Amino acid sequence: MYDSGKIITGLIIFVLLVTIPVWYNRGTASNVPEPELPKDVKTCVLPKAEITAKHMQLLNQWRDEVIRTGDRSTLEIEGKQYPKSLMLACMKCHTSKVKFCDKCHDYASVKPYCWDCHLAPVE
Ligand code: HEC
Ligand code: HEC
Ligand code: HEC
Repeated sequence: MYDSGKIITGLIIFVLLVTIPVWYNRGTASNVPEPELPKDVKTCVLPKAEITAKHMQLLNQWRDEVIRTGDRSTLEIEGKQYPKSLMLACMKCHTSKVKFCDKCHDYASVKPYCWDCHLAPVE
């Protein structure tokens, strides 16, 4: 009475159709940016989770301290002094804007305007 061949074929087609989103996402779902980390130093100015989440605020804070209050005190990381500076601190360790900053910013579609004035390292 029942045509089991057709039912099974139908079921297979149904399962394939329903799982299309899963197949479609293979490879693209894990396409998160991989910024290249410095090789010669291990420590950032803040612990990794904090700098990732708050580097924009920290940069603004540094800028305000340096420009508005003239506070050019330095910070020590692994025995070296760094000024509170985009170019002379961040980009001294993160030597490639393209392979570091841009990796995340392109992914997140943010375009910091800082580079209109500040120089990026020569690549
Ligand atoms: C002394 C060298 C040094 C300086 C200066 C420095 N960083 Fe880092 N940064 C590192 C290292 C090393 C790591 C990786 C830390 C880890 O793996 O725990 C890192 C991690 C990061 C991360 C996280 C990356 C990720 O994959 O999540 C961001 C964002 C970042 N830094 C931005 C900055 C910014 C912005 C500045 C300037 C305000 C700065 N860094 C200054 C060495 C530095
Ligand atoms: C681990 C990923 C990651 C890395 C690496 C990274 N950023 Fe960001 N950055 C972000 C994200 C995500 C935002 C947007 C955050 C938001 O809008 O809340 C952002 C925003 C910013 C902003 C604010 C832009 C705006 O228009 O509000 C500045 C400034 C900035 N980043 C500077 C830097 C600099 C300089 C570097 C390289 C030294 C860097 N970032 C590296 C993820 C990253
Ligand atoms: C219109 C030009 C301009 C733009 C755009 C700009 N800056 Fe600046 N920034 C300056 C000038 C000029 C100084 C003063 C340099 C000094 O006196 O050392 C400065 C100083 C700073 C300083 C402290 C000193 C140093 O050498 O880094 C920080 C940190 C800073 N800016 C971060 C940022 C960030 C982050 C952005 C983007 C969100 C940004 N600036 C965008 C012009 C600009």
